[in-house]
Amino acid sequence: MEVMGNLKRTNYCNEFTLENQGENVVVAGFVQKVRNLGQLIFVDLRDRTGIVQLAFDDTSDAKLLEKAATIRTEFVIVAKGEVRKRQSINTEIKTGEIEIFVDELKILSVAKTTPFEILDDKPVSDELRLKYRYLDLRRNEMQQTILMRHKIAKATRDYYDENGFLEIETPTLIKATPEGARDFLVPSRVNSGKFFALPQSPQLYKQMLMVSGFDRYMQFARCYRDEDLRADRQPEFTQIDLEMSFVDQEDIIKINEGYMQYIFKKILGQEIKAPFHRMTYDEAMTRYGSDKPDTRFGLELNDLSSGLKDSEFKVFSGPIADGGSVRAINAKGLADKLSRKEIDKLTNIVKLFKGKGLAFLRWTSEAQSSSYEKFLSEKEKEYIKETLNVEQGDLVLIVGDSENNVVFDALGALRLELAKKFQLFDEKSYAALWVTDFPMFEYDKEDKRFYAKHHPFTAPRDEDLELLNTDPEKIIAKAYDLVLNGTEVGGGSLRITDSNVQQKVFEVLGLSKEEVEEKFGFLINAFQYGVPPHGGMAYGFDRLVMLLLEKSSIRDVIAFPKTQNASESMTECPAPVDQAQLDELSIKLNLDVK
Ligand code: AMO
Repeated sequence: MEVMGNLKRTNYCNEFTLENQGENVVVAGFVQKVRNLGQLIFVDLRDRTGIVQLAFDDTSDAKLLEKAATIRTEFVIVAKGEVRKRQSINTEIKTGEIEIFVDELKILSVAKTTPFEILDDKPVSDELRLKYRYLDLRRNEMQQTILMRHKIAKATRDYYDENGFLEIETPTLIKATPEGARDFLVPSRVNSGKFFALPQSPQLYKQMLMVSGFDRYMQFARCYRDEDLRADRQPEFTQIDLEMSFVDQEDIIKINEGYMQYIFKKILGQEIKAPFHRMTYDEAMTRYGSDKPDTRFGLELNDLSSGLKDSEFKVFSGPIADGGSVRAINAKGLADKLSRKEIDKLTNIVKLFKGKGLAFLRWTSEAQSSSYEKFLSEKEKEYIKETLNVEQGDLVLIVGDSENNVVFDALGALRLELAKKFQLFDEKSYAALWVTDFPMFEYDKEDKRFYAKHHPFTAPRDEDLELLNTDPEKIIAKAYDLVLNGTEVGGGSLRITDSNVQQKVFEVLGLSKEEVEEKFGFLINAFQYGVPPHGGMAYGFDRLVMLLLEKSSIRDVIAFPKTQNASESMTECPAPVDQAQLDELSIKLNLDVK
């Protein structure tokens, strides 16, 4: 292997056109492909910008030609030569009209045969891609993605900077104060038996920055949540986190609509209209069965409860009597497109969301059939048709359950499934939506306790403060989510700044006075030294990049992501540690506990 010596790169590979003919240049990178025709050798050289062809022929120095003949795919080389017009033009690449006729070549590193070819259009399993992520990242598609991620981050910083936000780092070894997900814990060696947690978000620190008078803060914040993974979730992810003082909800929404417009223009060259559409949580659930609805298509939910509550058919009337509901989607024109078998398969989706079953009415071009034919009265059947405006060709899907959330979740998921399967929306279009007026608390029947829907520092609506004493479930919070094409890209709220209200919220959440003092004493204290009204939000940066670049998984926009089971296959972590390291931390493992 050779060293670069004084052969220093002058240009990136894709910087050449016919205009550069005759110039002496030095390029460096990885070998994409070699074509050896004996006295004629062509090498496609790749760097992060693209590909350029290197040429050697019978007029080349014999030693040079010999060396060129040893080059293999993925070798790292540096080459000096003259830019010249090419014999056969390649219209696929930007530099397709020229080549570099090499007069000096150094092989800087040889390469074994890679476990997969460094090409975009060769399917490779996810396992292999992640185990050899450094090779996967060499692929053009990944190079472009990482480049775009950088550009989006840069534009984000520019926007918030232009709007007076300061980027301030907050600690990542913090006190464990679970915000909803489980914490990742870090044992302290110096204070044995004690633990730090990695932040689920910088929530309390950014609020403290407002108490300190920093007024407008932003940060690219690494966040850690030990929760089940999905296509849009990672245990370690990045937020664009922000907080503002002396503002109301409208101010925060406005700044952030401006941000979305800025980023769409800068990155995609697209103008998007503001103000964005808004919808309350209640409306989103009743119309779309989801608090993050994709509004690029209809398939809206309809409530059938009032006409079916007295039905003899207990499958419908039972859940309504128990406080639940029966709701339906009319999938217009899909009756002939879905077979009975396929409709049965949809039942599995309903079951995935704890639903008991799926009723349907299918009116094909040949006949009408329904799963409730024998059980409902003519009047009730007519009611369903009228309410849903059913015509020939339509497929009606009905779900009833004593838990409204089951009905919403199941129909919400069916809606997405049908829209995806039948491409009911324009994949290239964007729908941005604010969902507002979230409930403050959610009651968990199993745990028999309230949980904060957003987080405990979110302010209840002023008119609902009294309900903290009487009916917490009815409280609406000053919280909002930003939804892009059915994905929650961001969320935030106005914050509580009154110590008494904060205490009350903790009480509802079942924290004793001592626990509050121990966990959040600093917050309650801080509010007593003067606190500006404040609020903010955080975007899931990875999610935002995923949506802007039209990727289907968050993993595709993160250089070194975790796998489905929250591990990293390249470095193989998490991994056991030495006994000595555990001893130092006073930790004794008890693997029987689980
Ligand atoms: P929230 O918990 O809603 O709010 O998070 C904000 C945004 O972060 C993204 N996100 C995730 N992205 C990838 N993987 C995950 N596991 C993950 N979890 C969340 C989502 C989400 O909208 N402190 C508050 C914000 C505030 O109130 O200002 C917070 O963290 O896109």
